[in-house]
Amino acid sequence: MDKLIITGGNPLNGEIRISGSKNSGLPILAATLLADGPMHLQNLPHLNDITTMLSLLRCMGVGVTIDERMGVEIDSTSINDFAAPYDLVKTMRASILVLGPLLTRFGKADVSFPGGCAIGSRPVDIHLRGLEAMGAQIEVDGGYIRARAPHGLKGAHFFMDIVTVGGTENLLMAAVLAKGKTVLENAAREPEIVDLANCLVRMGAQIEGIGSDSLTIHGVERLQGCAYSVMPDRIETGTYLTAAAATRGRVRLRDTAAGILDAVLLKLEEAGAHISTGADWIELDMKGNRPRSVNVRTAPYPAFPTDMQAQFTAMNAVAEGTGAVTETIFENRLIQVHELNRMGANITLEGNTAIIRGVPRLKGAPVMASDLRASASLVIAGMVADGETLIDRIYHIDRGYECIEEKLQILGANIQRVAG
Ligand code: UD1
Repeated sequence: MDKLIITGGNPLNGEIRISGSKNSGLPILAATLLADGPMHLQNLPHLNDITTMLSLLRCMGVGVTIDERMGVEIDSTSINDFAAPYDLVKTMRASILVLGPLLTRFGKADVSFPGGCAIGSRPVDIHLRGLEAMGAQIEVDGGYIRARAPHGLKGAHFFMDIVTVGGTENLLMAAVLAKGKTVLENAAREPEIVDLANCLVRMGAQIEGIGSDSLTIHGVERLQGCAYSVMPDRIETGTYLTAAAATRGRVRLRDTAAGILDAVLLKLEEAGAHISTGADWIELDMKGNRPRSVNVRTAPYPAFPTDMQAQFTAMNAVAEGTGAVTETIFENRLIQVHELNRMGANITLEGNTAIIRGVPRLKGAPVMASDLRASASLVIAGMVADGETLIDRIYHIDRGYECIEEKLQILGANIQRVAG
């Protein structure tokens, strides 16, 4: 199993390109199942989760061709199987996103039930209840969700009890080919949902209220293939900015967008960062200063994202003062705290809040990655620690960060991958 070795102490300095968004690429790949002709996707990140979704499409008989510039052509007209097997779903919960598209277009889907994961139980009850409201018959049998709609889905008025990103995406994709009008209330508003909706509109879908918490969808008979370029990854963007702030550095990130991470940029400014932005770039400069602690509370977009919480915990660990980080989305998502404390951080847990008393420096140690964003916090901690940090189980990082060690090396970090 690969490991990362980081020798801390170098402030990040330089310019890198931000990759396409994983969390937008995954639902857009699922949406290719809705198209009557080939889809041409650009700017998909080269990540394990994206490869898993492509394998899932391939195992259903979908044609997938990748060109030399990572452009992907996907043609679902050759589909001959409507199942997402356990082996693939267990490695990636987002496989559940094929449920809505398969059911609405082909009338059947057998998707392995996604289990829990390190950050909590993560049920899919809202996905299923929404599809039932559109007329689907759903049974859970032998670990599989078996959904049927032999005469197609029909529009419904559905209120989501919890703001769910994946639930909103699944139901939106189901609604675009359902008969009649669907209204999704209390919908998630994440930029990745806007990206998915924009792609669906380009395929011929009729969607009103894009970017709001109430989506109205008028079902159409068919959707056509189209060309679409996936948005930049706002969490990768936020991670490199936070890493630069923690190391007192200066970075310029290209091919990204400032408008999609306002809450994060405001918190970084509160921490003492000087931020400037252009149409497709963001620059952060700490002017050599230690960051100041900030309080953070995660909530659905446009509030502070849960996927940036662990990175801010790491920055607060070396900041001036005391900061509180409260997690409200997932029940067990402060798992990075114990590993950070092993590196000399002073963090105590009070329920779903981490109280972080900043220390001047951390000390390198062997640590273990436990989930994607928790791993990113360990990389940040390693870069501000004295001596060497060895991070084990980095397959978690590879699920969400394209070429992380190459990008950090370009920014001057002392980081290496070793085969374990
Ligand atoms: C997506 C993101 C993930 C991010 C999360 C929250 C992808 C591939 N992943 O995950 O990176 O951390 O949004 O921004 O885009 N819930 C239910 N019932 C349901 C669905 C969700 O109770 O049917 C709960 C979950 O357990 C969780 C909360 O709702 O507590 C939010 O989850 P959700 O927004 O659905 O997260 P994902 O779509 O899985």
